[in-house]
Amino acid sequence: MKFLQSTVILASLTAMTAPALAQNDVITARREGLKGVARQMEGIKAVVDQRGDPRGSAAAIADMIGFFEGFAARFPTGSGSGDTRALPSIWTDRAGFETANANMVTQLRAFQAVADAGDQAAFPAAFQQTGATCGACHRPYRGPAR
Ligand code: HEC
Repeated sequence: MKFLQSTVILASLTAMTAPALAQNDVITARREGLKGVARQMEGIKAVVDQRGDPRGSAAAIADMIGFFEGFAARFPTGSGSGDTRALPSIWTDRAGFETANANMVTQLRAFQAVADAGDQAAFPAAFQQTGATCGACHRPYRGPAR
């Protein structure tokens, strides 16, 4: 009986920790992905500053589009606690979060069109606008660094 009881306790403990671990993996993976996006934006900024050929940034922009197309799915219910800056508003205002996400994809596609066209004159403003679109999601949905 005692053995049975501890087995039951052990089983329920495992059931509790497994999802918590899975959420930590989700958080780590999305943060790593975002750091990659920041690196890509820094690389593109260097091209803007040096007035380089916008076409050279098309691949990085395509990568970011792929990342943000799957971005909302990286915020499953329960992944708002732990080592994360994700604010509860992501889940209480899911529609707003998904709109901010969709705006990002739209903006990146516009940015990509400018890069593909090699439009050097339009490139800096398109870069600025892209950065502003990152901020438009961070303000309501990302908490301060900790
Ligand atoms: C739809 C919302 C949204 C958009 C768009 C968005 N972000 Fe974020 N970003 C977040 C959230 C939420 C977090 C916090 C994630 C966490 O801590 O779990 C975050 C975190 C980050 C971090 C911190 C990563 C870390 O943990 O060190 C960086 C860097 C970042 N974003 C860069 C960007 C850049 C650059 C863009 C635009 C190209 C962008 N983000 C667009 C929502 C967004």
